[in-house]
Amino acid sequence: MLRTSVLRLVGRTGASRLSVLEDFGPRHYSSGSLSARDDARDARAYFTTPIFYVNAAPHIGHLYSALLADALCRHRRLRGPSTAATRFSTGTDEHGLKIQQAAATAGLTPTELCDRVSEHFQQLFQEAGISCTDFIRTTEARHRVAVQHFWGVLKSRGLLYKGVYEGWYCASDECFLPEAKVTRQPGPLGDSFPVSLESGHPVSWTKEENYIFRLSQFREPLQRWLRSNPQAITPEPFHHVVLQWLDEELPDLSVSRRSSHLHWGIPVPGDDSQTIYVWLDALVNYLTVIGYPNAEFKSWWPATSHIIGKDILKFHAIYWPAFLLGAGMSPPQRICVHSHWTVCGQKMSKSLGNVVDPRTCLNRYTVDGFRYFLLRQGVPNWDCDYYDEKVVKLLNSELADALGGLLNRCTAKIINPSETYPAFCTTCFPSEPGLVGPSVRAQAEDYALVTSVATLPKQVADHYDNFQIYKALEAVSSCVRQTNGFVQRHAPWKLDWESPVDAPWLGTVLHVALECLRVFGTLLQPVTPSLADKLLSRLGVSASERNLGELYFLPRFYGHPCPFEGRRLGPETGLLFPRLDQSRTWLVKAHRT
Ligand code: MSP
Repeated sequence: MLRTSVLRLVGRTGASRLSVLEDFGPRHYSSGSLSARDDARDARAYFTTPIFYVNAAPHIGHLYSALLADALCRHRRLRGPSTAATRFSTGTDEHGLKIQQAAATAGLTPTELCDRVSEHFQQLFQEAGISCTDFIRTTEARHRVAVQHFWGVLKSRGLLYKGVYEGWYCASDECFLPEAKVTRQPGPLGDSFPVSLESGHPVSWTKEENYIFRLSQFREPLQRWLRSNPQAITPEPFHHVVLQWLDEELPDLSVSRRSSHLHWGIPVPGDDSQTIYVWLDALVNYLTVIGYPNAEFKSWWPATSHIIGKDILKFHAIYWPAFLLGAGMSPPQRICVHSHWTVCGQKMSKSLGNVVDPRTCLNRYTVDGFRYFLLRQGVPNWDCDYYDEKVVKLLNSELADALGGLLNRCTAKIINPSETYPAFCTTCFPSEPGLVGPSVRAQAEDYALVTSVATLPKQVADHYDNFQIYKALEAVSSCVRQTNGFVQRHAPWKLDWESPVDAPWLGTVLHVALECLRVFGTLLQPVTPSLADKLLSRLGVSASERNLGELYFLPRFYGHPCPFEGRRLGPETGLLFPRLDQSRTWLVKAHRT
């Protein structure tokens, strides 16, 4: 019966689903903006990570890129209407000089190296719960077809010509550099060698005849695209940076290398003496995944959110949209840019020996714990420093003590002997604040808590929409603290189930706290899927009651029936998140100056 009435209220379309949210929290939802967003939500969404180079094993920075995309995609799926409307791709970038050289150094064939390292990435992502729908390797035959077709389109539109490229090339970054972006670095024997100013990687002088893309033609179209889509690159400072780059001349771009120099790649169609530039090859992966060149790709393009690190912004925000415009296609809908993880204030690198292995971290801190840490601490706008004490402190305080403690306080047999979701008493907690009467027990702070948690799903959704997942987690964590304050204030352990005066209020305190926990568990699913499952299962929330469209907080307060009231809690499965031992040896000690 209850379910039917909820469904009747919810209706079948996104718009009516939101009217229920309004109904349940009329002060907290503005119908206009939510309806507009909900329409967008009904459309398809395609999330991508960069494809990862296979020259070295994955580190926590790579995992972070993938986790951001995973959390965005999981949040989108929770909003509905159906998982079939989302696609999420990741993969490995296997061609190019960098891989060719790494294989030679390792004494392997490029294929052996690619198979080995691509497998590492796949295992890591599986262990870390990356819910990708597609994993692409650029050495696959389907990708070669897509890249060569794309090349043919650019050629047929007159955008490729043959010319001599002379300048610096950085194999580590796989990019061409103007003189102004190169500096000299002292070598060990007092000599000096040229390096890229931005990355510090060595560069070498190259002069060869290549195919050149008419990038210079796209400066104005790119400016128009960015000016008319101020959300296209987020966070805003990165959008601004790209516009600044476009204030300067945009030289044409060499998009092939001599095959005698670079053989590990896709040959230029009709000219085996040239190999396609690895960035053109790599960027087309986003199309290969959705079926390009077959027409099916059109149902996913351009509904794309590319999640990328700041170091590859130019390739995604200038080259890629220019290639797409050149091929007669739309630029991607959105480019979400994140900053980097450093270790003790330094860039992570094999040569510095400070690379943090993500699999060790997942084992040590649990999958959910480490996912939570990276997404809670990683801020897209700024670099973030890693060290172990930070992880232990954060997880102990927010997951073990605050969230786990709250669950324990509301479900422990000593406080909740019937192990049920107790009834909410509207006379103890009337929906109008400020009422006085002998049975009114709720205080001003309790109303503030209800408002905070009622508005939390919308706040969290806005943070996801703005690519500020850390802020979504901060907001949840702040509400967890507020709920602990509520429980502490009313000390249910001092109330007596046997007393007719205490019992309705005791039930109400637990009911409100459990409702808060249900909201927290639902909202944490994209970041800590197993922990959220454990929490929601303990509360007795079924799989079909975990979507954001079904998230009606404290319906009894708003005069609606609550499907959970009187329901038995789920089985006890131990601590939600066991405290981590501070005394374990660190992988990376705190950096103190
Ligand atoms: N293969 C290219 C991407 C091609 S996409 C068409 C590439 N690969 S990468 O392996 O070097 O980097 C992949 C992603 O990991 C990038 O988004 C990059 O920013 C990210 N990270 C690499 N080091 C990082 C940190 N230290 N911290 C956070 N992310 C970092 O570039």
